[in-house]
Amino acid sequence: MTPAPPTGRLAIFPGSFDPLTNGHVDIVLRSTQLFERVLIAVLVNADKKPLFSAAERVEIIREVFREYPNVEVDSFEGLLVDYARARRASAIVRGLRAVSDFEYEFQMALMNRHLEPTLETVFMMPAEQYTYLSSRLIKEVFSLGGEVRGLVPPVVEERMRTKQRGG
Ligand SMILES: Nc1ncnc2c1ncn2[C@@H]1O[C@H](COP(=O)(O)OP(=O)(O)OP(=O)(O)O)[C@@H](O)[C@H]1O
Ligand SMILES: [Mg+2]
Repeated sequence: MTPAPPTGRLAIFPGSFDPLTNGHVDIVLRSTQLFERVLIAVLVNADKKPLFSAAERVEIIREVFREYPNVEVDSFEGLLVDYARARRASAIVRGLRAVSDFEYEFQMALMNRHLEPTLETVFMMPAEQYTYLSSRLIKEVFSLGGEVRGLVPPVVEERMRTKQRGG
């Protein structure tokens, strides 16, 4: 075991975050209880037609966590384990909503362990009221005129409205 770096342990929370939901926020806040620093890493190009560009997503998430000096936001391309190594991360954090998340997450975690055995994946459950929330569902509900207040941070809701008006 190598000692922890003086700056404290860093966890990477990777995802598309298109857009960030209160489920994501819940997982980030829980992670800050376990790790000194949490890095939200926006995956570039996961979806060819995202609602928000990677740069916009980074900007929005930075705004949401503006008052949290221990939460960082960045974007990355390519293999997560390569990015995690470059950032000297101790762990990958992922959220688990339901059984439906499990199989894919289990595969990914074991593949990442195969690629980088020293990097652990930690799973966290959100508060119950967020277990049904996904970015895809938020986009769907919003595009059909549904109310997303309380499901995404106010900044996200505002940016979605601007986007809808063509901004
Ligand atoms: N409501 C939620 N509660 C807990 N974890 C969540 C929630 N939504 C997403 N996550 C987790 O956040 C991480 C990043 O997920 P991702 O960016 O794919 O979000 P998503 O909501 O699943 O988006 P999409 O609907 O586009 O797949 C994953 O570990 C995912 O399981
Ligand atoms: Mg998903």
